Amino acid sequence: MNRRVYLDHNASTPIHPEVLAEMLPYFSEVFGNPSSIHTFGRDAREGVERARERVARFLGVSPQEVVFTSGGTESDNFGVKGLAYGRGKGHLITSSVEHHAVLRACQALEAQGFDVTYVGVDEYGIVDPDDVRRAIRPDTIAISIMHANSEVGSLQPITAIGRIAREHGVPLHVDAVQTFGKIAIDLDAFGIDALSFSGHKIYGPKGVAGLWIRKGTRMVAIQHGGEHERRRRAGTENVPGIVGLGKAAEIRGRDMHAEAERLTVLRNRLIDGVRDRVPDVRLSGHPTERLPGTASLLFRHVESESIVLGLDLKGIGVSAGSACTSGNVELSHVLVAMGVPLDWAIGAVRCSLGCSTTAEDIEYVIECIEPLVRKLRQAMPAGVA
Ligand SMILES: Cc1ncc(COP(=O)(O)O)c(C=O)c1O
Repeated sequence: MNRRVYLDHNASTPIHPEVLAEMLPYFSEVFGNPSSIHTFGRDAREGVERARERVARFLGVSPQEVVFTSGGTESDNFGVKGLAYGRGKGHLITSSVEHHAVLRACQALEAQGFDVTYVGVDEYGIVDPDDVRRAIRPDTIAISIMHANSEVGSLQPITAIGRIAREHGVPLHVDAVQTFGKIAIDLDAFGIDALSFSGHKIYGPKGVAGLWIRKGTRMVAIQHGGEHERRRRAGTENVPGIVGLGKAAEIRGRDMHAEAERLTVLRNRLIDGVRDRVPDVRLSGHPTERLPGTASLLFRHVESESIVLGLDLKGIGVSAGSACTSGNVELSHVLVAMGVPLDWAIGAVRCSLGCSTTAEDIEYVIECIEPLVRKLRQAMPAGVA
């Protein structure tokens, strides 16, 4: 039996045992509808509000500013469309490397008559704040820039972007799905007005997330129905999920900094170990301004999916940066925006480390990658490798 090594924590994380324990009663005895005024309902409401307080404490904000949603995707849609609809027609600014939840929300707004500028990035996937400044127009109504890129791990200069947004009186939404619970977020110093985060990236459950909305920010609901979440997000709350998200945030407050240090060491060892052994490999994204646990590697002249499947046979779970469908290579929009040449971009593999990752896991992965890439390169058609 192979060793099993999960290095895909940016995709999802295992539920922390303390989170699961906290959630379980909300699947059984505490089943009431939190909107009901009887004791069954009030017990469920208590769970939801405790979770809201925990998230708020973690972020250093007021619980009233936290709205629970069904996922990071909904939070991003809410953040972007909620700001846009709150101001009527106008112009938005985002970047070309955002998650599709933001990019496609912006495209949907364009179809409705809003204007969107997609600012580019440098070779590391990083936005130049001056490009944001230059893109601002008199009718600019919102800016949405992600904190860390999920594929390559680069961190955006949010403080500088936030300062520019403030100077121009434009609200800033930040997709922090990959940073919430992993690195510090100072909402005031960063100048953020709305922040998306998600449960399943921080050892909480899937299908639950949140949007923090700074008090006083005009944000229009995008889902209509009952009076839930102070009329900002209709729909009976996912009580066990919200309870889990609250507990996960609390645990991250306790463990985050030590884990970030530990993961940085392991990530650097992985990068150095692979680079020492495998020719023609490079790191994508910024060498230092990056998520602690993310190493996105480009293997020249090898297909990402072949590496992912080869490592899977060794019990290792990583993710492919590019996909091949019916002989066509579908490159990640992030690598395209970064200008990564095709012969490198086809071999993009993301390793994302987490709580359970050990130094032995990393040595095992390094050991497995070298012969696999060698074999795959030998099998490439002549003239390619
Ligand atoms: C940066 C970023 N934004 C948004 C999302 C969407 O979050 P969810 O999976 O909770 O819908 C993800 C998920 O991978 C992400 O990495």
